[in-house]
Amino acid sequence: MESSKETQQKYIAIKALENGVTIIGLTRGKDTKFHHSEKLDKGEVMVAQFTEHTSAMKIRGKAEILTEYGSVQSGT
Ligand code: TRP
Repeated sequence: MESSKETQQKYIAIKALENGVTIIGLTRGKDTKFHHSEKLDKGEVMVAQFTEHTSAMKIRGKAEILTEYGSVQSGT
């Protein structure tokens, strides 16, 4: 069983409420750059973790975001 700190991080879930929702991963550390983007169509769900490389995510479009802190809706 993999047990590095990274894989133990909690997951967040993002459900697209319209087509073309974009999830952008921003780099951890002194610089803040886009390093990955992922497009979701309506109804698609992405389950993701923050990692050594990703400390923030930006979500464009209408989506429901579920975290351990609660849920929030983007794009409204
Ligand atoms: N590179 C920044 C960092 O690791 C990314 C970041 C995280 C950020 N949270 C932020 C940038 C809040 C602006 C505001 O800290």
